[in-house]
Amino acid sequence: MITFDNVHKSFGPKRVLRGVNLEIAKGTSMVIIGGSGTGKSVTLKSVLGLITPDNGTILVDGKDATKGDRDAFLARFGMLFQGGALFDSLTVWQNVAFRLLRGALKRPKAEAREIAIEKLRRVGLTPDVADLFPSELSGGMQKRVSLARAIAAEPEIIFFDEPTTGLDPIMSGVINDLIREIVVEMGATAMTITHDMTSVRAIADNVAMLHDGVIQWTGPVGQMDSSGDPYLAQFISGSAEGPIEAVR
Ligand SMILES: Nc1ncnc2c1ncn2[C@@H]1O[C@H](COP(=O)(O)OP(=O)(O)O)[C@@H](O)[C@H]1O
Ligand SMILES: [Mg+2]
Repeated sequence: MITFDNVHKSFGPKRVLRGVNLEIAKGTSMVIIGGSGTGKSVTLKSVLGLITPDNGTILVDGKDATKGDRDAFLARFGMLFQGGALFDSLTVWQNVAFRLLRGALKRPKAEAREIAIEKLRRVGLTPDVADLFPSELSGGMQKRVSLARAIAAEPEIIFFDEPTTGLDPIMSGVINDLIREIVVEMGATAMTITHDMTSVRAIADNVAMLHDGVIQWTGPVGQMDSSGDPYLAQFISGSAEGPIEAVR
């Protein structure tokens, strides 16, 4: 469903992606791990065409993200942004239904609200939160709203950027389980970025580790612990000792 072929991206002198090659099969869940600032979010934004690679190609279902009808292309995606990124001046239901109220996916307002309430229910929130503002919710509830927004238009492809960052371990577990359930029941292709190994084990079919601008290791989640790759092993163990420099 998504193919990265020799993708390069620099910002000024900073070479972030230095030849990323990766394939994500339709209906599977890929989790990309790697240290802070290694280019995980840049990788994800490149698929959406929010960032244009300097070199190489990214194909989504055989199509180049940077060519053709952008609205139709983006309509196939759902996205949970790092930090949630809810609009604080919109109510919860308006956030969830954001894309159903405008553009290629536009529906009548009443219908959009109904869908929003159904999606809120799917993530464990009751209809009475629909008319609240994001600031009136706890961090865990905000994350659920962001998740409801990501799935509101029933996308074929869903991206989750650091879905559990900032949550306590129990709430992280709840969000991980929800993500896994929803991806499976929708049959969606998913790409998740995280540095939380608990998320990896809960969400992934396959794992890819980004390090020094390339995919250092990729394989099924079940092979992660016996990969024999010293970078991956150090990342999993969280050890200061190993090939990855702790001070960056
Ligand atoms: N739009 C941008 N302009 C300049 N530098 C950027 C931009 N986006 C990301 N970077 C830089 O690219 C590197 C990788 O960023 P990012 O992909 O956000 O890291 P992470 O792996 O933590 O998600 C960082 O050093 C960041 O500062
Ligand atoms: Mg990031």
